[in-house]
Amino acid sequence: MARKDLIAGNWKMNATHLEAIQMVQKLGYRLDPSDYDRVDVLVCPPFTSLRSVQTVIEADYLRIKLGAQNVHWESGGAYTGEVSPGMLAKLGVSYVIVGHSERRQLFGEDDAVVAAKLRAVLGEGMTPIVCVGETLEQREQEVTEQVIGGQLQAALGGLDEATVGGLVVAYEPIWAIGTGRTADADTAAAACGYLREQVRSQWGDAADRTRVLYGGSVNPGNVAGLMAKRDIDGGLVGGASLDPDQMAALVRYWV
Ligand code: 13P
Repeated sequence: MARKDLIAGNWKMNATHLEAIQMVQKLGYRLDPSDYDRVDVLVCPPFTSLRSVQTVIEADYLRIKLGAQNVHWESGGAYTGEVSPGMLAKLGVSYVIVGHSERRQLFGEDDAVVAAKLRAVLGEGMTPIVCVGETLEQREQEVTEQVIGGQLQAALGGLDEATVGGLVVAYEPIWAIGTGRTADADTAAAACGYLREQVRSQWGDAADRTRVLYGGSVNPGNVAGLMAKRDIDGGLVGGASLDPDQMAALVRYWV
């Protein structure tokens, strides 16, 4: 079964809702129906912009998909400052990033939290984008596979084959995030291929459906080389996704 490529923009903590409206409108102008036929295009703005971006997408009949960068695992209650999966689903959010390294490193999210969030996202019918990745130190110690394999297992363990086949996994080496230092295409593909084989070893043919993205300093200059790799089904893009011209160029990586 062919996997549809996915170019996902993670805007991180950038853009007011007014800026976000302009960004998504500009991106919409730059893309054609054939782009969406070939690639799923996703933007993940901060919570404060989700409603505004959803409104633009609906009003302009854009085929851009809406994602969130984080979520709480409970459905509601006394969790000051948190946002529930149901709130996101009602806003037209179809993807939610879980386990991003910035959340793991800066906000103390461990594997158990990531697993709980992933299940909560699935429970509302949305697609989790599960991030895994090693530090520079771990890469130098040659434990990359143990680290990302362990993170994958902790997040996906116990899920059934149909569920795993619908997931998105993002390999994001921490040393390549926001540093301008991209993993070269062979390095990225080796890690993505390893993750796919890990999925295959437990969930069989689901591995042919699970989309595996690469993230870390993806830009219009390096995207084609990454996308040429069989095991890389798209990109999870930070900095470059903030510029609609660059985001459109990423979507059109084959041109
Ligand atoms: P950059 O593309 O800015 O390196 O960020 C990658 C990332 O963390 C996407 O989630």
